[in-house]
Amino acid sequence: MCYAIPGNVKSISDNLITIDYFGEERTARNDFYALQVGDYVYAQGGFVVQKIGKKLAEEILDSWKELFFELKETDTRLSKLHHDKTTISKGFLKIISKATYGGSISREEAVRLLLSEDLDELEVLHKSANFIRQKFLGNACCVHGIVEFSNNCMCQCAYCGINRSNINLTRYRLTPKQIRDIVGNAVERFGFKGIVLQSGEDPSYSSKEILNLIKMIMEHYPVFLFLSVGEREDAFYLRAFEAGARAVLFRFETSDDALYAKLHPHSSLKERMRYLKLLKNIGYLIATGSLIGLPQQNVETIIDDFLLAKELGADMYSFGPFIPHPGTPLSGYKAPDVGSILKALSVLRLIDPYGKILVTTALESLYPKAKRQALLCGANSVMLNLTPTNFAALYDIYPSRARGDISLEDQVTEAQLLLRSIGRAPTDLGL
Ligand code: 5AD
Repeated sequence: MCYAIPGNVKSISDNLITIDYFGEERTARNDFYALQVGDYVYAQGGFVVQKIGKKLAEEILDSWKELFFELKETDTRLSKLHHDKTTISKGFLKIISKATYGGSISREEAVRLLLSEDLDELEVLHKSANFIRQKFLGNACCVHGIVEFSNNCMCQCAYCGINRSNINLTRYRLTPKQIRDIVGNAVERFGFKGIVLQSGEDPSYSSKEILNLIKMIMEHYPVFLFLSVGEREDAFYLRAFEAGARAVLFRFETSDDALYAKLHPHSSLKERMRYLKLLKNIGYLIATGSLIGLPQQNVETIIDDFLLAKELGADMYSFGPFIPHPGTPLSGYKAPDVGSILKALSVLRLIDPYGKILVTTALESLYPKAKRQALLCGANSVMLNLTPTNFAALYDIYPSRARGDISLEDQVTEAQLLLRSIGRAPTDLGL
């Protein structure tokens, strides 16, 4: 749960607390604060990230009072499941109906949905995904800010423009001071409560330096901290958790063993799995997923990717289109079309009614309006780019990356307007 609306602590049981939001109760873990019943807190990603004073909390809540219910009403209206399509096959509707009641759909059923090319079926699929998101998760939408702090990378991922063989790319590495300023600005000026630190696998940024960075951020800013720094020593991830990081964005990229090996000469799917299990065991929230539209993928392998992410206990799903980069071995391939990604995200929502589904920047890069469309197809999480625009342009994982050239102020305004227009509580932006 991650409303950036302060909530009131109703009860405390060890480190689990119940928080009230205008009569709705949510549970969050409290690892960092001494709390009493009656205190006001912000929670993010299911964790208490900040304790705030009563007077300030009541002022903020006052400003949210009407909007909170207005947003809910809008969302409920937009996620109604009605259709008058009489031509849709009974088999298709049976699968949809099972999912809307919270039943789990089989691999074959998911494949059947993903194979559909029928416009009426697709409309029902999209609406059902939105209905399921609203029914099981309500109208909360996570808004995290991502800082891409280094584009140095020692990996050789065949699809990625910052892979180490791309000698045409100017490399950069933000200093801890620069990162601190970026995070400080996002938190203090824009009210972000969730921050993702992302980089290539950059050995020039030592694990010790990243740990110091985490400690510095946790000491100064009340945020839910995500790491996306790839494969590092196991001990690093243990220490980073101790230092306060609580989530990782760590994709397995494809669940197809042979394809993984082909695309990643430096690593193996087995090792990737080992990391994901280790990270889950340490206690991190897991955001994982794969690329959609890679050469040699098919409908079955995409469903297998979804099922693997679910099996790994993903708290957040990160599935986005592969976009060919001219400086990589996969430059000659084509990106998938937007419709196929929206369809895939809808099927994913039917596979897991409870996980968060991220709208990736890659999807937005294919088609800017896809962000809204994806949020109406089961997705409920977005990321804004905090990287200064001159560096964001060099974080060139794929070409024409959306967001990279838009100021943070404009991104925030745009996100607020979008989320309000579709009735989502704009988490992280709720100062
Ligand atoms: N197209 C889309 N996504 C890409 N990534 C890397 N290269 C590309 C590309 N060409 C994604 C990877 C990685 C994330 C940081 O960026 O899936 O996990």
